[in-house]
Amino acid sequence: MAKKVSANGKTKKRTIGIILAAGKGTRMITDLPKVLHEVCGRPMLAFVIDSCRAAGIEHLYIIVGYGKEHVMREFKDASDITWVEQKEQKGTGHAVMCCQPYLKKFDGDCVILCGDGPLIRTETLKELLAKHHHEKSSATLATSILDDPTGYGRIVRDSYGNLQGIVEHSDCTAEQKRIQEVNPSYYCFDWKDLDWALGKITPSNVKKEYYLTDALSVLIQSGKKAIAITAVPPQDVLSINSRHQLAEVSKVMQSRIQDDLMNHGVTIVDPSNTWIDARAYIGQDTVINPFTYIHGRVKIGRNCRVGPFAYLRDGTVLEDDVVLGVFIEVKNSHFGSGTRARHHSYIGDAKVGKQVHIGAGTIFANYDGKTIHETQVGDLSFIGSGATLIAPIEVANDSHIEPGSVIRSEGKESSAKVKKTTSKKPGKSGASQKR
Ligand code: UD1
Ligand code: CA
Repeated sequence: MAKKVSANGKTKKRTIGIILAAGKGTRMITDLPKVLHEVCGRPMLAFVIDSCRAAGIEHLYIIVGYGKEHVMREFKDASDITWVEQKEQKGTGHAVMCCQPYLKKFDGDCVILCGDGPLIRTETLKELLAKHHHEKSSATLATSILDDPTGYGRIVRDSYGNLQGIVEHSDCTAEQKRIQEVNPSYYCFDWKDLDWALGKITPSNVKKEYYLTDALSVLIQSGKKAIAITAVPPQDVLSINSRHQLAEVSKVMQSRIQDDLMNHGVTIVDPSNTWIDARAYIGQDTVINPFTYIHGRVKIGRNCRVGPFAYLRDGTVLEDDVVLGVFIEVKNSHFGSGTRARHHSYIGDAKVGKQVHIGAGTIFANYDGKTIHETQVGDLSFIGSGATLIAPIEVANDSHIEPGSVIRSEGKESSAKVKKTTSKKPGKSGASQKR
């Protein structure tokens, strides 16, 4: 592979990423591949992929094994990923060995990360890469210092602070177990050096696995330059090996999502009793009241009020100044600006216009037992309390629906309290002109 030539004419080494994601996740007790378990609405692997891309890593090799078809399907649209199969999971070193046939001619750097660590930050990766390039080292790792280092590989340094290697928790002596500096598995290697070192490692440890961390020791013992920088904030280190850790990591991610929204002018009245999906967008001066759950790709405009106890689902769009109040469930629906549904409603697969009043207890019946249908409500319409709109149905602009009405398309029996039909198109409802 050719080296990149930068603006000043100097050659710049290319950097690829390798993400280890072949493990079954035995401790999760699951049939779903571990890296597909969701953190705030997205598979945990997606966060690792995103941070690599944001750090400028140009191509990714992702090691898959257990449930590989499922993992690949989830990211099928990505053109910057080469999927590498590890048939048997013989350790993190073995996982990287599976990339060797693909990288025979590659002469650059590789960042290696684990797919079960979604809390990784782009800034940390950039710092790791900058240090690696500046120091021209053969291996660079980013480490962290934890109050409780149990379970992690320990960073062993000599009395001058030089990196000597990493010892896995299960292989540590009593003295090594007291080391608080740990390996969060953020590495950058010169690929040619690592390629060589991988040929030297053996599974001679408690777990009988090929450890990637042993390849680092091989490089150090052969006199190559290897450095470790303490660049990973302790709260980012947690990786997911169990359902408990999945919940813990999700909580950290949730507070990042909410911090980001608050930094952009969104009020979240009670952050610990609010859940917002990583894919949601919320505009400035919107207020999210307690016990609101926003799931999926939801887009909320400026100056809206949502909740308390609102459930907004995938595909929902709120233009500006929309109010969705207490006990409202909304799915895949679009609301024009100024529309209000303040109390106890289900609204599914609807296109609701501007300045529409949706009364208490209104139900949009979008499912007939076989198919999902759409409802359209025109601008400035009034829907009285307790109305049921049976989809498919179109309610014209300025319609007035009496409280308690059951509205169907024309051609079917309707119990709507109709005064005057404004509908012209076939299939429109028998709703009456507003007041
Ligand atoms: C690893 C590190 C440890 C570090 C910890 C940080 C090694 C030997 N140990 O331990 O130093 O503190 O991460 O979280 O590297 N995987 C494969 N194929 C395999 C084995 C693992 O793809 O054959 C993948 C897993 O799917 C997972 C990642 O590698 O995403 C890490 O494996 P895991 O078994 O969780 O390693 P740890 O014991 O956590
Ligand atoms: Ca792990």
